[in-house]
Amino acid sequence: MTYTDKENKFKRHTVTTALPYANGPIHIGHLAGVYVPADIYVRYLRSMKEDVIFIGGSDEHGVPITIKARKEGVSPQVIVDRYHSIIKQSFIDFGITYDIYSRTSSPTHHKTASDFFTKLYSQGKFIEQTSNQYYDETAKAFLADRYITGTCPHCGNEKAYGDQCESCGTSLSANDLINPKSTLSDSVPVLKETKHWFLPLNDYEGFMREWILDSHKEWKPNVYGQCKSWIDQGLHPRAVTRDLDWGVKVPLKDAEGKVLYVWFDAPIGYISNTKELLPNDWEKWWKDKETKLVHFIGKDNIVFHCIIFPAMLKAEGSYILPENIPANEFLNLESDKISTSKNWAVWLHEYLEDMPNKQDVLRYVLCANAPETKDNDFTWKDFQTRNNSELVAILGNFINRTIVLTHKYFEGRVPKRGELNQLDIQTIEEIKTFPERIGVNIEHYKFREALTEMMNLARLGNKYLTECEPWKTYKTDIARTETSINISLQICANLLTLCEPFLPFTSAKLQRTLNLRPTPWFEAGRDDILKQGHKIEEAELLFERIEDATIEAQVQKLLDTKKDNEKSNYVPSSQKDNIEFDDFAKMDIRTGTIIEAEKVPKTKKLLKLLIDTGIDQRIIVSGIAEYYDPKDIVGKQVSVLVNLAPKDLKGIKSQGMILMAEDLDGKLVFVSPTQNVVNGSEIK
Ligand code: MF3
Ligand code: ZN
Repeated sequence: MTYTDKENKFKRHTVTTALPYANGPIHIGHLAGVYVPADIYVRYLRSMKEDVIFIGGSDEHGVPITIKARKEGVSPQVIVDRYHSIIKQSFIDFGITYDIYSRTSSPTHHKTASDFFTKLYSQGKFIEQTSNQYYDETAKAFLADRYITGTCPHCGNEKAYGDQCESCGTSLSANDLINPKSTLSDSVPVLKETKHWFLPLNDYEGFMREWILDSHKEWKPNVYGQCKSWIDQGLHPRAVTRDLDWGVKVPLKDAEGKVLYVWFDAPIGYISNTKELLPNDWEKWWKDKETKLVHFIGKDNIVFHCIIFPAMLKAEGSYILPENIPANEFLNLESDKISTSKNWAVWLHEYLEDMPNKQDVLRYVLCANAPETKDNDFTWKDFQTRNNSELVAILGNFINRTIVLTHKYFEGRVPKRGELNQLDIQTIEEIKTFPERIGVNIEHYKFREALTEMMNLARLGNKYLTECEPWKTYKTDIARTETSINISLQICANLLTLCEPFLPFTSAKLQRTLNLRPTPWFEAGRDDILKQGHKIEEAELLFERIEDATIEAQVQKLLDTKKDNEKSNYVPSSQKDNIEFDDFAKMDIRTGTIIEAEKVPKTKKLLKLLIDTGIDQRIIVSGIAEYYDPKDIVGKQVSVLVNLAPKDLKGIKSQGMILMAEDLDGKLVFVSPTQNVVNGSEIK
């Protein structure tokens, strides 16, 4: 039984997480929004001794996967094989404890999705509609919107995609494009009639209104709000099939070249994966009213999990519906939207290379900053602060002090308990409240709050230890020291259980140190978990300070990414009007060498240079002081416009100009000959 289900309505829990597309690795945004919260929830339920299965897997269909495969010249299966294993490994590495992590290209899934379609089809739950779609006569294929490019009717961008213009951000449909072109063959596509099957969502509008808007007012406001706005705008039939050759084949006679729409088959993947896990026993996890079904997803998946998939389940008739869908908002990275195509992300596999064994630090920071109610920002600075002033200074510090003192005074054995004073009694009373305080928050999907409460227990421990000062009473009143160390150790024993959903790797270390298995959650809160005389091991390092240099390296990595992006998106200024050769020939440009360089006093930008131009030695004042240190440039050969009319700059007569190239961040660099030539050589 859980804290909030007092009537014991549910006997078991089916917990699912959005199936990530197997066309790229996963990043901190995925982890923060979906996988860490779900894992906390499941670990907690297991500790409550609830019956729970945790279902995950890769989403291996859909057009983007086929596009990536084409680009690389391989089959889609190669792409999904590659990323399925990378993603699966990331989940293992970060301690996401799936009972099964399978994939939608599995035979079980194909059969399950196909049968699901057939059942709805034979019960007449679909409507058939023919429409005109673009067809590539050279490639002999209907074209998904993504496979068509053309001119955006809104902004004139000539490289807009059939589903979206990336220049102005408008979402499009292929029929909107001016001058459409197939990316398969570069030919002009033609409109051709094609038949598809639609789920008439409009028939479920009344049901959705009642089921969601009236009966699930407890859903998170962001989820409820999105559902309400969809329903209020009116639901429309949705196509559940596509003309594509990658996916689950439509199991009908006249459906050659058609597959199930990826958003029709993918959520059925939750069911397929359950079948794969429990071939003989899967049904009760999906069809018994006493099963609580919860989907963890990100906000871009809300309509599919709250409206479309439930409509499919409802149409099928034998399934339960989700009890909750605690969707999160998005996590940004250093104030910018995480973007795979711009490589603006912290990739999980890269994180572990840079920060080995720091899984729990990331889990902690992502949970503390989880975008539960609004978009949130991940910054490396905050990562450092949370590590140093929370994990190290509060949790690590308390546990470490307690264990070190136990070894110092009591040879690593739990000391006995003497008479209790007021502070002991109060502290023991307070310890009792934590399992429920944390648990209730988890049950309400308030993971940040739950994490804060867990840390409050460590704070309580620190405060208790500081007030008891066992290192002082040791000399005057050994019984006091015994009692206060005993109680501190009981707090550690509680933390071992109560931190486990959030920080499983830390809990595992603590289990080794305390020689103790976790107490079931509902039995935690006790002050006699560790018995007198119980032997504990030496302290293991739980957390270590993260220094500025480590953080700066991560920030630099991102700045480099940003610069690379700017470079690849750089649009040079447009070319100037044509000139005649004579116009050019008027300029006398020579090679010259910098002989002396010094800053012009009281200016930020100016350097006074003495240049050997081959013709003479002369002074040129140049605005490059921000980019070059005078001592580094002496001896450098550069290009000099020598016949520029002299000009007075800050009281110095400047005779000529050094030619510089300007980088996109405004940085000026010398334009030098690639090998030294004699000074005074004409540049022409
Ligand atoms: N692949 C989808 C995404 O990454 C999520 C699919 S969830 C499922 O947005 F329900 F369809 F499986
Ligand atoms: Zn546009």
